[in-house]
Amino acid sequence: MRRVVCTGERLGLREVTEADVPALHAVYGDPATTQHLPFAPRSPQEVAVLVDRALEAAAAEPRHLYVLAVVDADRHDVIGVARLQIETDHPHSAEIGFGLRHDQWGRGIGTDLVRLLLAFGFKQLGLHRIWGARSPANLPAQLAMLTAGMVEEGRIRHHVHTPHGWRDSIVHSALEDEWTQR
Ligand SMILES: CC(C)(COP(=O)(O)OP(=O)(O)OC[C@H]1O[C@@H](n2cnc3c(N)ncnc32)[C@H](O)[C@@H]1OP(=O)(O)O)[C@@H](O)C(=O)NCCC(=O)NCCS
Repeated sequence: MRRVVCTGERLGLREVTEADVPALHAVYGDPATTQHLPFAPRSPQEVAVLVDRALEAAAAEPRHLYVLAVVDADRHDVIGVARLQIETDHPHSAEIGFGLRHDQWGRGIGTDLVRLLLAFGFKQLGLHRIWGARSPANLPAQLAMLTAGMVEEGRIRHHVHTPHGWRDSIVHSALEDEWTQR
């Protein structure tokens, strides 16, 4: 298994471990964080299952799923989670997802995280296309992806079913041959 380590100025990405469950629960268990996500806040047990699945996926060959802990580059504590899923039928393309602990929002870290995920996908994994889908109401995610260079592609109607009913998604993407590090 190839272990991911990816370092930016303020953030790093690394493989999740079982010891990260409480820190990841501080992200996925928070109703503020899941407000625009297609699932209800996760319990610690549900987060532990996610981590187990992430560890299994990390050992798969070929590997399609990267669930990564987002760490503060100075303090090394886990402040968020990032996910990159390579499409089985289109292995040049991957979907990203990301979330930060609520107390980290609004300092430009989310934008840095999208930049780091793009650099990881294009430079380390050799992908051609990276895309992300957000809730139409998720302004911080929209701005973070736009500022990092992911253009808006369009709307998928009733893309996901959430605890509040069907929800459209707005898709953003970046292409390797258009991408310049911003
Ligand atoms: C999306 C998320 C990672 C953004 O993180 P962040 O660190 O707050 O992002 P940034 O500080 O880089 O801000 C990005 C932009 O949104 C703006 N913004 C941040 N919070 C905002 C808010 N509450 N209302 C309006 N704009 C906001 C910032 O001003 C910035 O805009 P700018 O580039 O024009 O200055 C964070 O909100 C989060 O974890 N949300 C929950 C999970 C989620 O929705 N993930 C995305 C799924 S697609």
